[in-house]
Amino acid sequence: MSKKNLNIITIDGPAGSGKSTVARHIADKLGWAHLNTGAIYRAFALLLDRFFTEGSQNLEDLTEEIILKIIVNINSFYSQDDIKHKIFLKSEDITAQLHSPKISQLASVYAQNELVRKYLLPIQRKLVEKYEGVVVDGRDMGTVVFPVAPLKIYLTANSETRARRRLAELQMQNVNVNFDTLLKDLEERDLRDSTRKIAPSKPADDAIIIDSSSNSIDDVVTQILHRFNQI
Ligand code: DC
Repeated sequence: MSKKNLNIITIDGPAGSGKSTVARHIADKLGWAHLNTGAIYRAFALLLDRFFTEGSQNLEDLTEEIILKIIVNINSFYSQDDIKHKIFLKSEDITAQLHSPKISQLASVYAQNELVRKYLLPIQRKLVEKYEGVVVDGRDMGTVVFPVAPLKIYLTANSETRARRRLAELQMQNVNVNFDTLLKDLEERDLRDSTRKIAPSKPADDAIIIDSSSNSIDDVVTQILHRFNQI
Protein backbone atom coordinates (compact mmCIF):
# COMPACT_ATOMS: atom_id res chain seq x y z
CA MET A 1 0.00 0.00 0.00
CA SER A 2 1.25 3.49 -0.77
CA LYS A 3 2.06 6.02 1.93
CA LYS A 4 -1.08 7.92 0.99
CA ASN A 5 -3.13 5.13 2.48
CA LEU A 6 -1.86 6.11 5.89
CA ASN A 7 -4.38 8.93 5.89
CA ILE A 8 -7.06 6.45 6.82
CA ILE A 9 -9.25 6.09 9.87
CA THR A 10 -11.09 2.78 10.07
CA ILE A 11 -14.37 2.43 11.93
CA ASP A 12 -15.71 -1.10 12.30
CA GLY A 13 -18.61 -2.35 14.35
CA PRO A 14 -21.98 -4.08 14.32
CA ALA A 15 -25.08 -2.90 12.47
CA GLY A 16 -26.60 0.29 13.84
CA SER A 17 -23.63 1.16 16.05
CA GLY A 18 -23.61 4.59 14.39
CA LYS A 19 -20.37 3.97 12.50
CA SER A 20 -21.49 5.49 9.19
CA THR A 21 -22.85 8.63 10.85
CA VAL A 22 -19.70 8.98 12.96
CA ALA A 23 -17.47 8.31 9.93
CA ARG A 24 -19.31 10.95 7.89
CA HIS A 25 -18.97 13.57 10.66
CA ILE A 26 -15.26 12.87 11.09
CA ALA A 27 -14.68 13.01 7.33
CA ASP A 28 -16.50 16.37 7.20
CA LYS A 29 -14.42 17.78 10.08
CA LEU A 30 -11.13 16.65 8.52
CA GLY A 31 -12.10 17.55 4.95
CA TRP A 32 -11.67 13.90 4.01
CA ALA A 33 -13.82 11.50 2.02
CA HIS A 34 -16.03 8.85 3.61
CA LEU A 35 -16.24 5.33 2.23
CA ASN A 36 -19.15 3.29 3.53
CA THR A 37 -18.20 -0.28 2.59
CA GLY A 38 -21.49 -1.71 3.86
CA ALA A 39 -23.07 0.10 0.91
CA ILE A 40 -20.80 -1.84 -1.47
CA TYR A 41 -21.92 -5.17 0.00
CA ARG A 42 -25.49 -3.92 -0.18
CA ALA A 43 -25.10 -2.85 -3.83
CA PHE A 44 -23.67 -6.29 -4.59
CA ALA A 45 -26.69 -7.91 -2.87
CA LEU A 46 -29.11 -5.68 -4.76
CA LEU A 47 -27.57 -6.56 -8.12
CA LEU A 48 -27.52 -10.23 -7.27
CA ASP A 49 -31.10 -10.08 -6.11
CA ARG A 50 -32.05 -8.59 -9.47
CA PHE A 51 -30.03 -11.24 -11.25
CA PHE A 52 -31.52 -14.27 -9.56
CA THR A 53 -35.00 -15.32 -10.47
CA GLU A 54 -37.55 -15.32 -7.68
CA GLY A 55 -37.16 -18.15 -5.17
CA SER A 56 -33.70 -19.35 -6.11
CA GLN A 57 -31.63 -17.09 -3.90
CA ASN A 58 -29.30 -19.05 -1.79
CA LEU A 59 -25.59 -19.30 -1.32
CA GLU A 60 -25.30 -22.57 -3.23
CA ASP A 61 -26.52 -20.86 -6.40
CA LEU A 62 -23.69 -18.38 -6.24
CA THR A 63 -21.09 -19.53 -8.76
CA GLU A 64 -17.84 -17.69 -9.48
CA GLU A 65 -19.18 -16.86 -12.95
CA ILE A 66 -22.23 -15.10 -11.50
CA ILE A 67 -20.11 -13.28 -8.90
CA LEU A 68 -17.79 -12.00 -11.63
CA LYS A 69 -20.73 -10.72 -13.71
CA ILE A 70 -21.93 -8.67 -10.73
CA ILE A 71 -18.42 -7.55 -9.76
CA VAL A 72 -17.85 -6.10 -13.25
CA ASN A 73 -20.86 -3.87 -12.70
CA ILE A 74 -19.74 -2.82 -9.23
CA ASN A 75 -16.21 -2.15 -10.43
CA SER A 76 -17.20 -0.04 -13.41
CA PHE A 77 -20.34 1.68 -12.27
CA TYR A 78 -20.37 2.01 -8.47
CA SER A 79 -19.88 5.48 -7.05
CA GLN A 80 -20.63 7.42 -3.89
CA ASP A 81 -21.57 11.07 -3.89
CA ASP A 82 -19.70 12.24 -0.79
CA ILE A 83 -21.55 15.51 -0.59
CA LYS A 84 -25.10 14.24 -0.96
CA HIS A 85 -24.36 10.81 0.55
CA LYS A 86 -25.93 9.06 -2.41
CA ILE A 87 -24.93 5.76 -3.98
CA PHE A 88 -25.07 5.26 -7.73
CA LEU A 89 -24.76 2.39 -10.17
CA LYS A 90 -24.07 4.11 -13.47
CA SER A 91 -26.59 6.95 -13.32
CA GLU A 92 -29.15 5.05 -11.21
CA ASP A 93 -29.52 6.38 -7.68
CA ILE A 94 -29.85 3.16 -5.61
CA THR A 95 -29.52 4.76 -2.15
CA ALA A 96 -33.11 4.18 -1.06
CA GLN A 97 -33.12 0.55 -2.21
CA LEU A 98 -30.04 -0.40 -0.21
CA HIS A 99 -31.59 -0.16 3.23
CA SER A 100 -34.58 -2.48 2.97
CA PRO A 101 -34.60 -5.35 5.50
CA LYS A 102 -34.30 -7.81 2.61
CA ILE A 103 -31.14 -6.23 1.18
CA SER A 104 -29.65 -5.92 4.71
CA GLN A 105 -30.00 -9.67 5.26
CA LEU A 106 -28.86 -10.60 1.74
CA ALA A 107 -25.77 -8.41 2.06
CA SER A 108 -24.86 -10.16 5.30
CA VAL A 109 -25.52 -13.62 3.79
CA TYR A 110 -23.46 -13.03 0.63
CA ALA A 111 -20.71 -11.34 2.65
CA GLN A 112 -19.88 -14.77 4.09
CA ASN A 113 -18.78 -15.99 0.67
CA GLU A 114 -15.02 -16.21 0.21
CA LEU A 115 -15.08 -15.21 -3.47
CA VAL A 116 -17.39 -12.27 -2.91
CA ARG A 117 -14.96 -10.92 -0.31
CA LYS A 118 -11.96 -11.69 -2.48
CA TYR A 119 -13.32 -9.68 -5.43
CA LEU A 120 -14.68 -6.80 -3.34
CA LEU A 121 -11.40 -6.32 -1.46
CA PRO A 122 -9.37 -4.61 -4.26
CA ILE A 123 -12.39 -2.49 -5.23
CA GLN A 124 -12.49 -1.03 -1.72
CA ARG A 125 -8.75 -0.33 -1.71
CA LYS A 126 -8.94 1.29 -5.14
CA LEU A 127 -11.87 3.52 -4.19
CA VAL A 128 -9.81 5.30 -1.52
CA GLU A 129 -6.75 5.90 -3.72
CA LYS A 130 -7.88 9.15 -5.26
CA TYR A 131 -8.39 10.86 -1.91
CA GLU A 132 -5.97 12.65 0.40
CA GLY A 133 -7.64 11.15 3.43
CA VAL A 134 -10.54 8.76 3.96
CA VAL A 135 -12.66 7.56 6.84
CA VAL A 136 -13.77 4.01 6.02
CA ASP A 137 -16.45 2.09 7.83
CA GLY A 138 -17.44 -1.57 7.73
CA ARG A 139 -16.69 -4.84 9.51
CA ASP A 140 -13.13 -5.75 8.46
CA MET A 141 -11.59 -2.37 7.70
CA GLY A 142 -9.02 -2.50 10.51
CA THR A 143 -8.42 -6.25 10.38
CA VAL A 144 -8.26 -7.01 6.64
CA VAL A 145 -8.79 -4.17 4.18
CA PHE A 146 -6.67 -1.40 5.74
CA PRO A 147 -4.54 -3.10 8.40
CA VAL A 148 -1.93 -0.31 8.17
CA ALA A 149 -4.37 2.45 9.13
CA PRO A 150 -2.88 4.53 11.95
CA LEU A 151 -6.19 4.91 13.79
CA LYS A 152 -8.65 2.05 14.13
CA ILE A 153 -11.93 2.29 15.97
CA TYR A 154 -14.38 -0.45 16.88
CA LEU A 155 -17.70 1.17 17.64
CA THR A 156 -20.33 -0.80 19.46
CA ALA A 157 -23.54 -0.33 21.45
CA ASN A 158 -26.14 -2.63 22.98
CA SER A 159 -28.60 -4.13 20.53
CA GLU A 160 -31.69 -2.19 21.74
CA THR A 161 -29.89 1.12 21.29
CA ARG A 162 -28.69 0.07 17.85
CA ALA A 163 -32.17 -1.08 16.80
CA ARG A 164 -33.67 2.21 18.01
CA ARG A 165 -31.12 4.21 15.98
CA ARG A 166 -31.69 2.07 12.88
CA LEU A 167 -35.46 2.53 13.24
CA ALA A 168 -35.05 6.31 13.33
CA GLU A 169 -32.78 6.23 10.26
CA LEU A 170 -35.17 4.01 8.31
CA GLN A 171 -38.17 6.13 9.26
CA MET A 172 -36.35 9.17 7.89
CA GLN A 173 -35.92 7.25 4.62
CA ASN A 174 -39.63 6.33 4.69
CA VAL A 175 -38.85 2.61 5.12
CA ASN A 176 -41.64 1.04 7.11
CA VAL A 177 -40.44 -1.51 9.69
CA ASN A 178 -41.38 -2.52 13.23
CA PHE A 179 -38.98 -2.34 16.19
CA ASP A 180 -39.11 -6.01 17.25
CA THR A 181 -38.56 -7.25 13.70
CA LEU A 182 -35.68 -4.82 13.33
CA LEU A 183 -34.08 -5.94 16.60
CA LYS A 184 -34.38 -9.61 15.62
CA ASP A 185 -32.95 -8.97 12.13
CA LEU A 186 -30.10 -6.94 13.56
CA GLU A 187 -29.15 -9.59 16.12
CA GLU A 188 -29.34 -12.31 13.48
CA ARG A 189 -27.11 -10.29 11.16
CA ASP A 190 -24.60 -9.50 13.93
CA LEU A 191 -24.30 -13.15 14.85
CA ARG A 192 -23.71 -14.11 11.21
CA ASP A 193 -21.26 -11.24 10.58
CA SER A 194 -19.22 -11.89 13.72
CA THR A 195 -19.05 -15.69 13.50
CA ARG A 196 -18.38 -16.16 9.76
CA LYS A 197 -15.11 -17.87 8.80
CA ILE A 198 -13.69 -15.10 6.63
CA ALA A 199 -13.07 -11.57 7.89
CA PRO A 200 -15.52 -11.74 10.80
CA SER A 201 -16.63 -8.51 12.39
CA LYS A 202 -14.23 -7.96 15.28
CA PRO A 203 -11.90 -5.27 16.61
CA ALA A 204 -8.35 -5.24 15.23
CA ASP A 205 -5.76 -6.02 17.91
CA ASP A 206 -4.75 -2.35 17.92
CA ALA A 207 -8.27 -0.91 17.70
CA ILE A 208 -9.77 1.46 20.24
CA ILE A 209 -13.11 0.10 21.38
CA ILE A 210 -15.83 2.68 21.98
CA ASP A 211 -19.24 1.79 23.38
CA SER A 212 -21.73 4.39 22.17
CA SER A 213 -24.75 3.06 24.12
CA SER A 214 -24.76 5.99 26.50
CA ASN A 215 -22.78 8.50 24.44
CA SER A 216 -24.15 10.79 21.79
CA ILE A 217 -22.79 10.66 18.26
CA ASP A 218 -21.19 14.08 18.89
CA ASP A 219 -19.34 12.73 21.95
CA VAL A 220 -18.03 9.78 19.97
CA VAL A 221 -16.87 12.07 17.15
CA THR A 222 -15.07 14.32 19.63
CA GLN A 223 -13.41 11.32 21.28
CA ILE A 224 -12.16 9.95 17.95
CA LEU A 225 -10.88 13.34 16.75
CA HIS A 226 -9.05 13.73 20.06
CA ARG A 227 -7.35 10.37 19.48
CA PHE A 228 -6.54 11.35 15.91
CA ASN A 229 -4.85 14.57 17.05
CA GLN A 230 -2.64 12.54 19.37
CA ILE A 231 -1.09 10.35 16.67
O1 DC B 1 -22.57 -1.72 7.48
P1 DC B 1 -23.88 -2.31 6.90
O2 DC B 1 -24.84 -2.71 7.97
O3 DC B 1 -24.50 -1.42 5.90
O4 DC B 1 -23.41 -3.65 6.11
C1 DC B 1 -24.32 -4.54 5.49
C2 DC B 1 -23.75 -5.96 5.50
O5 DC B 1 -22.60 -6.02 4.66
C3 DC B 1 -23.28 -6.45 6.87
O6 DC B 1 -24.32 -7.11 7.58
C4 DC B 1 -22.14 -7.36 6.55
C5 DC B 1 -21.60 -6.87 5.23
N1 DC B 1 -20.34 -6.12 5.34
C6 DC B 1 -19.18 -6.84 5.45
O7 DC B 1 -19.23 -8.08 5.52
N2 DC B 1 -17.98 -6.21 5.46
C7 DC B 1 -17.90 -4.88 5.41
N3 DC B 1 -16.71 -4.28 5.40
C8 DC B 1 -19.09 -4.10 5.34
C9 DC B 1 -20.30 -4.76 5.33
